[in-house]
Amino acid sequence: MKNILVIGGAGFIGSHTCLVLLEKGYKVFVFDSFVNSSTNALKRVLEVSKLKNKKKDPFLKIYNGDLLNKKLLQNTFNDIYKKHKFLDGVIHFGGLKSVAESIYSPISYWRTNVLGTINLLEIMSRYESKHLVFSSSATIYGSSKNSLLKEDSELKPINPYGNTKLTVETLLDDIFKSGRKEWHLASLRYFNPIGAHFSGLIGECPIGIPNNIFPLITNTALGLQKELKVFGNDWPTKDGTTIRDYIHVMDLATIHTRVLEHLISNKPNYLKLNVGTGKGTSVLELIKIFERVNKVKVPYVYVNRRIGDKCSLVADNSLLISKLKIVPKSSIEDMCRDGWKWKKLNPNGY
Ligand code: UD1
Repeated sequence: MKNILVIGGAGFIGSHTCLVLLEKGYKVFVFDSFVNSSTNALKRVLEVSKLKNKKKDPFLKIYNGDLLNKKLLQNTFNDIYKKHKFLDGVIHFGGLKSVAESIYSPISYWRTNVLGTINLLEIMSRYESKHLVFSSSATIYGSSKNSLLKEDSELKPINPYGNTKLTVETLLDDIFKSGRKEWHLASLRYFNPIGAHFSGLIGECPIGIPNNIFPLITNTALGLQKELKVFGNDWPTKDGTTIRDYIHVMDLATIHTRVLEHLISNKPNYLKLNVGTGKGTSVLELIKIFERVNKVKVPYVYVNRRIGDKCSLVADNSLLISKLKIVPKSSIEDMCRDGWKWKKLNPNGY
């Protein structure tokens, strides 16, 4: 049985990934500061995992700590090695993720996202196993002008959040090229993860007022806000609204475990992979599908474009499919149905 450390495992993507790891029989160790997440997410993960496998107790151990506290992180590694002998891999979701906030607080974004990752890499470099999957983002790309984004498309982040993601990717490049080529690394460039586990027990739980489209749609459908503001209907797209590549969070979670398994069973490498479906959906299409699948209304109004928004961000996911032999399988309908189930069952989150 393999031991996997999940940094930021209580967050939206992290919690779904922990569930997939437990279902696959891994021992999961979560290191999380819980500044932006809840321990209840992990209680739910255990609950759901037990529902599926009644015979075997899932192994999930929680370490409450911040990546900036290097001593605590070192103690966590020491504890895992002392009690479990080996750590097979690390999946790193730990970081701050609001674009708007990053513009107001660039220093805290650089400190948490870059310095925090440096602390992790320094500690990992002292151990034999050097397998790391890093949460990157499609936000590091420049504009796509309606074509699909490939991994070698122009990289041009336009906000501090994106800058920190690209900086860590560059750091991983340098580390991979250094010394004895002993690192097994992957940066996963997520497009737009939405949806929730189909049970409705695990889902996205943003603290405060959400910024991203999907929690805003579910809030509107529930009547928590009067209407959804659609940022512009004058974009050069089929219906004038912006286009994104939405991916089901469970597909994303499965892809993390597959990437880690790929790293573990192959020679040292550094993979940079787009993680999207390759299909673009406009904001208007997303609203309409959500309304149709869930039989609810999402009132909306058009407002001005949001500063810094891009017209279209859609993945060319051919590298992901050829390397991993995995195709994200869920439809927008699945994402809307599962995400709405979570929201209805948990209107106030965890
Ligand atoms: C945003 C971030 C991106 C981050 C990602 C995941 C920006 C510019 N980009 O991506 O860096 O990796 O979240 O956290 O913030 N929309 C509306 N009305 C709303 C909210 C959104 O019309 O109230 C539209 C946006 O214009 C966009 C689409 O919905 O076209 C998706 O928006 P959002 O969920 O915020 O994701 P991104 O902007 O793609």
